[in-house]
Amino acid sequence: KKIAVVMGGPSSEREVSLRTGQAILQALRSKGYQAVGLELDPAQFIDDIRQAEVDVVFNAVHGKFGEDGMLQGTLEMLGIPYTGSGVLASAVAMDKSISKRLFLSSGIPTPRSQVFNKYSDGEEVAAAILAGFTIPVVVKSSAQGSSIGVTIVDQAEKLAAALKEAFAYSDNLVVEEFIDGREVTIAVWGNKSPAALPIIEIVPHSGCYDYHSKYTTGATDYIVPAPLEELVVEKLQKVAVQAFNLLGCRGIARVDVMLDKANQPYVLEVNTIPGMTATSLVPKAAAASGISFADLCERLLLMAGE
Ligand code: DAL
Ligand code: MG
Repeated sequence: KKIAVVMGGPSSEREVSLRTGQAILQALRSKGYQAVGLELDPAQFIDDIRQAEVDVVFNAVHGKFGEDGMLQGTLEMLGIPYTGSGVLASAVAMDKSISKRLFLSSGIPTPRSQVFNKYSDGEEVAAAILAGFTIPVVVKSSAQGSSIGVTIVDQAEKLAAALKEAFAYSDNLVVEEFIDGREVTIAVWGNKSPAALPIIEIVPHSGCYDYHSKYTTGATDYIVPAPLEELVVEKLQKVAVQAFNLLGCRGIARVDVMLDKANQPYVLEVNTIPGMTATSLVPKAAAASGISFADLCERLLLMAGE
């Protein structure tokens, strides 16, 4: 079987995706697969993938076009199997304003939030946020990854800049109450009966798990398995699998969760194309259960089109 690892693309997470893609490419080759790397050029993609004559696509494109259902839809039309979630799950998971609504309606705890549109009056938005929330709040672009466009606003004066930053990346933004506690993440994988991998606790040295803390070696401590009581572990793994199933994910996804001081979980989001770089979380979670990176990539590949 010939595989194309599709990576890059025009999103703001392009560089991360190239690193994810190269790591996957090497892993598959180390397992003896005939794999080629293909950079996503949206206007050329259909020609490029036809020329590559591959049997399956390993999707390593984060964010726009790769993680939002677009690439998935194109591959469906071409009849080429691909790794990971399908069109609808991808689109819904990528949009926090939609996925959080689904979490709420299904009893999956998520931080209280409100959605605002770019075309509303900026001052009215700021006033509504100050009336509805207590500072600190978290301002997020509704469809971005890697913490791009995210600001933790700890002073009212900083709100306007945070809104501008988030609106730079999408038309909608999500304002969330700030959960004071610990940050954990849970990888869930499988098609028919998905299971959770060991939980990772994230401890950024700067106190904020932003783009720099995510992709700079040594900037964050990752504790895996997270030092949590067994009951809390079970609760977290259960809620992560629920979120995965609710959105209809396939293959693998990483569910990011805040744990408040009373050990109550709050699901922030589901990442359907989680990072697979040297500093990424999913490979660490797999390693903690004895699964090498190459084995992880092979298992995900075998789940494609299953
Ligand atoms: N969006 C980044 C790649 C992640 O979730 O790992
Ligand atoms: Mg994300």
